[in-house]
Amino acid sequence: MTGSNEALLEYHQRSKHRVNQYAPGPGGLDWANQPNAFREFRGATKFKLPLAADSLVTSYNDVRRGALLPPRKFDIDSVATLFELSLGLSAWKSYGANRWALRCNPSSGNLHPTEGYLLCPHLPGLSAGVYHYLSRDHLLEQRAAVADPQWVQAFSGGGILLGISSIYWREAWKYGMRAWRYCQHDCGHAIAAVSYAAAALGWQSRLMLSAADDIVADLLGLNRSADFASAEAEAPDTLLWVGDPDSRPDLARLLDASGNASWAGRANRLSQEHVQWPEIDTIHRATHKPAAPEQAVPEPRSLPLPAAPALDLSYAGIARQRRSAVDFDGTTRISAAALFAMLECLLPRRDAPPWNALPTPVRVHPALMVHRVEGLDAGLYVLLRDAAHLPGMKQSLRPEWLWQKTGPVHLPLYFLLPYDLRDVAKSICCHQNIGADSCFALGMLAHLDAALNEPWRYRHLFWECGMLGQALYLEAEAAGVRATGIGCFFDDEMHGLLGINGHSWQSLYHFTVGGAVDDTRLSTLPPYEFQP
Ligand SMILES: Cc1cc2nc3c(=O)[nH]c(=O)nc-3n(C[C@H](O)[C@H](O)[C@H](O)COP(=O)(O)O)c2cc1C
Repeated sequence: MTGSNEALLEYHQRSKHRVNQYAPGPGGLDWANQPNAFREFRGATKFKLPLAADSLVTSYNDVRRGALLPPRKFDIDSVATLFELSLGLSAWKSYGANRWALRCNPSSGNLHPTEGYLLCPHLPGLSAGVYHYLSRDHLLEQRAAVADPQWVQAFSGGGILLGISSIYWREAWKYGMRAWRYCQHDCGHAIAAVSYAAAALGWQSRLMLSAADDIVADLLGLNRSADFASAEAEAPDTLLWVGDPDSRPDLARLLDASGNASWAGRANRLSQEHVQWPEIDTIHRATHKPAAPEQAVPEPRSLPLPAAPALDLSYAGIARQRRSAVDFDGTTRISAAALFAMLECLLPRRDAPPWNALPTPVRVHPALMVHRVEGLDAGLYVLLRDAAHLPGMKQSLRPEWLWQKTGPVHLPLYFLLPYDLRDVAKSICCHQNIGADSCFALGMLAHLDAALNEPWRYRHLFWECGMLGQALYLEAEAAGVRATGIGCFFDDEMHGLLGINGHSWQSLYHFTVGGAVDDTRLSTLPPYEFQP
């Protein structure tokens, strides 16, 4: 076994929450050093973006079906809408003297480790260069102005690149060793949020997965140590191409062209003091990605369009009303048809978001604990997003399972066990009531073997989970219920329930969907009329 594989497996094991011991954390919250939720580059020229999302009338149902409108032209207005509906603020919340912002993309603990960047040629309203998105003020900070004509030529097929990076410290401050996992989930949520918003503007999106981390870091300016000085580092995650997938730019050419760019801005420091988590540094290094050719991805099988959701909402509306439920009522039931429609949106579709963005074979399958779905027995189910995994999955799970095909013919949903799993779901979700009070809870089974020998794929597994999560969040809103991502779960309790031995399949993320109970003590303020 290579050193990187060992490091990966060691981190994976050590960052598990266990019933008798949570993964190592800070043991309390150091409020004086709570990280600033907003990165800024002081000294960079700022371009205020228009708030234009309200004029976007694309329906959510068209977006999720991949029925894209003619692509909008790339200019400051359309790029502004892309950011507003993906990484932008969705509201401010207040309780007493405390105020905090929510965003279209969710984040574990609302700590938002994810930073967004734009790389573009000259566009109406924006000059060619590299920009950092500051969601608090809905503006772009120009990090680099690029004059080299090669830069513009590289984009000549039309399109832009959206860069994503993570500030691990933001999550580590609260969650310690397990925080790296949450940063990866959040990255997956952000990728999906961008992919959906792009689709609402008529654009396809595709991750540039062949890129080495070093190229991503160089293009985003993350390796410019003088600009970060005492500020927290940003780890390069990925670049997402927004535009025609056949016109993707050559990144080496872009890097060349950025050689003479003039850079501006110095990153703000987010906390005065930091706690070191060497295990996070180790897993970061072990999953460092070299350049690697993109994998050939089998064409997804053709599927009927997903059934329309209960509510006919605009994409802009649903992106901004998405919230995590803090509590479920324990009584709401959804219909089997509503559940099937949600699950249909988790199946890979080449031209529909968010799966059009992910050029990898399916590696994650949800295992559902169904509690309150009209017309469906309570119990354990698996949605096999790629039927090719059926024999392997059957072998890895408890031999007694029924594997009874359920639901529409094209939906690979299997019923494993009739049982009231409410208490089990609650205890697996670190005793959180939402596990039991939901309509259903699920764990995402990832094929960890796919990451061995190519350890950076461990990150991709979490991203796929985050993308599934974003799809579930939006689907829940459209069905008139609400979802919550669950990072706090007892890993091996879930494996024990399913009968998983070994580490070929591991549950990397959990989710709950149900009838939300709002916290009436909180007030809600609009995202951009109020400044703290
Ligand atoms: C990766 C991840 C893990 C999360 N884990 C939990 C959890 O264990 N329990 C919980 O109540 N909420 C959890 N959440 C929900 C976040 O707390 C929520 O996204 C955040 O407070 C922002 O609120 P919003 O989703 O309404 O924008 C999680 C969210 C994400 C993205």
